[in-house]
Amino acid sequence: MSAPNLKIENLHVAIEGKEIIKDFNLEINGGEIHAIMGPNGTGKSTLASAIMGHPKYEITSGKVFLGGEDVLDMEVDERARAGLFLAMQYPSEIAGVTNADFMRSAINAGREEGKEISLMKFIRKMDEKMDVLDMDQAFSQRYLNEGFSGGEKKRNEILQLLMLEPKIAILDEIDSGLDIDALKVVSNGVNDMRGPEFGCLIITHYQRLLNYITPDKVHVMMQGRIVKTGGAELAERLEAEGYDWIKEELGIEDEKVGQETQA
Ligand SMILES: Nc1ncnc2c1ncn2[C@@H]1O[C@H](COP(=O)(O)OP(=O)(O)OP(=O)(O)O)[C@@H](O)[C@H]1O
Ligand SMILES: [Mg+2]
Repeated sequence: MSAPNLKIENLHVAIEGKEIIKDFNLEINGGEIHAIMGPNGTGKSTLASAIMGHPKYEITSGKVFLGGEDVLDMEVDERARAGLFLAMQYPSEIAGVTNADFMRSAINAGREEGKEISLMKFIRKMDEKMDVLDMDQAFSQRYLNEGFSGGEKKRNEILQLLMLEPKIAILDEIDSGLDIDALKVVSNGVNDMRGPEFGCLIITHYQRLLNYITPDKVHVMMQGRIVKTGGAELAERLEAEGYDWIKEELGIEDEKVGQETQA
């Protein structure tokens, strides 16, 4: 199996005719963890949704490749089968579908007929991963995200990550709403995935998460594109100083998308 590689080239994305992502470029290889930080409303979640194929987001130009394959040519389910995973900022609740059933279907969707995971193996794996995440076994039989607290939903997104073992994961604000212990547990889960067969993009507002999951690169997003890239030290500077120094450095007046005032 080839090492994971996600390549985003000159991506432009519009919603209802308004351009949100503008000339976005990024490459993530297996073994790498990248973080994207950036003020509210700069297009971070839009980028994640567009890569996963959310129908509301129109790719007006640019390319996305996973292991050299054209992702934008794939149906949404194909993208997941090809090894892309998104933990959403606001996970949906699905009444009537248990967490265990959902995860087993998701695993089997990525496998050929006749090669489905056995019930025994599935249960063992789910038990093991729930242990890693310090989750009560009762969560496997609850309806997906229904009535889950904010932190429980986030933990469950990471459980899906550990169960599905994608090649490339995009984690959108996986740390929001987590208490301090949960933050460590969730970080451990992501660190467990670390290795040459896994690449990860973490969208976060807080450097704190990156104390637990050390990123190889930190990117700052403004106006729908990456405006600055550095190492873990960049996140530390942002935590201490905010974003104004970057805006000054680059002559950006309004960092949000669709509201630029400069030429
Ligand atoms: N489905 C949608 N319909 C209309 N506007 C949208 C939609 N999705 C995103 N937008 C707009 O696109 C802009 C970027 O939103 P996005 O959610 O990508 O920001 P973000 O960087 O993730 O912000 P945050 O840090 O607050 O999560 C916002 O102005 C938002 O209102
Ligand atoms: Mg967002």
